[in-house]
Amino acid sequence: MRILVTGGAGFIGAHLVRRLLAKEHNHVVNLDALRYSGNLENLTDVAGHPRYRFVHGDICESRTVEKALKEHGLEAVINCAAETHVDRSILDPNSFARTDVIGTAVLLEEARKAGVARFLQVSTDEVYGSVETGWSKEDDAIAPRSPYSASKAGADLLAQSYWTTFGFPVLITRGSNTYGPNQYPEKFIPLCITNALDDQPLPLYGDGRYRRDWLSVFDHCGAIEHVLRHGAPGSIYNIGGGNERENLTVAETILKYLGKPMSLIRFVQDRPGHDRRYAVDCSRLPTLGWAPTVPFEEGLRATVDWYRNHEAWWRKIKSGEFRSYYERMYQQRLKDGTGCAS
Ligand code: DAU
Repeated sequence: MRILVTGGAGFIGAHLVRRLLAKEHNHVVNLDALRYSGNLENLTDVAGHPRYRFVHGDICESRTVEKALKEHGLEAVINCAAETHVDRSILDPNSFARTDVIGTAVLLEEARKAGVARFLQVSTDEVYGSVETGWSKEDDAIAPRSPYSASKAGADLLAQSYWTTFGFPVLITRGSNTYGPNQYPEKFIPLCITNALDDQPLPLYGDGRYRRDWLSVFDHCGAIEHVLRHGAPGSIYNIGGGNERENLTVAETILKYLGKPMSLIRFVQDRPGHDRRYAVDCSRLPTLGWAPTVPFEEGLRATVDWYRNHEAWWRKIKSGEFRSYYERMYQQRLKDGTGCAS
């Protein structure tokens, strides 16, 4: 298959590009705008691969998308391009509406005009909103609560509308919290790991008892690939890891793996509108013959080791644009924060 992966220089996108290239029948074109979290260093090992091409461009620009689809005769699209960090969506909501909603709208329309055979929209479990009890099913009403999740919900609904209105073969995956190597250190797990490596405090929002279902990036990409090949057009598939944990437990596990003191934990001012819990019912995906394979503690330990062994990768990021973002987000919070009792 000749596949366009958008946002292929990002965290999930880069792992996906590598995974797709490992199959001899695939040709992959990566369209990425290389904004702050897009990093071609995530793909140095495949940069010269004969079945891989990189195109520098923005999914919001129809001409760029049209040209990439035509020039490379692409048959499938996987849309990973997105602004993804909830905290940044609180600081700058409009950029999320632009990339996540307008970008997806442009991509859908150009893909439809080009006669693309399969379009997979990488959505998120955050579209269901906070789920205090039980597990969200694919047919549940969506109720996003942050500018990020609302933008992703807009994209998700647009994708669904292309199936209903045009019969355009759209597939939607709603993945849970993903972790693994190469994740930009603004996200909770890599932030905790890299801060701990530097003996810096680990900021936990609120009481630290918020819950997420953690999914290895290798499993997430495996599920996306599986849905692309085997999913029923017009269908939505939840992807979870089956690893629901409190944030505090995750932070403590990281400190334990690194042999660092629990006193590094700081409870800080909460995220506005912070969703208490996400949890997805994942019974649909096994009907396609897919299930996650990476146990959380194993995947987390391997991730901790990856960051320990790839200091140059994350130090470069943390000394750049990230620094002013970090100060804006955490300086006051950490000053006012309280330590961990244990
Ligand atoms: O559920 C899937 C979603 O997971 C993806 O769609 C998003 O792109 C991804 O960012 C993630 O959203 P979260 O907001 O859950 O991820 P984040 O890593 O920002 O936070 C995970 C949890 O940790 C959440 O309860 C907030 C908390 N947290 C996060 C940060 C950055 C802290 O307590 N302190 C922090 O400094």
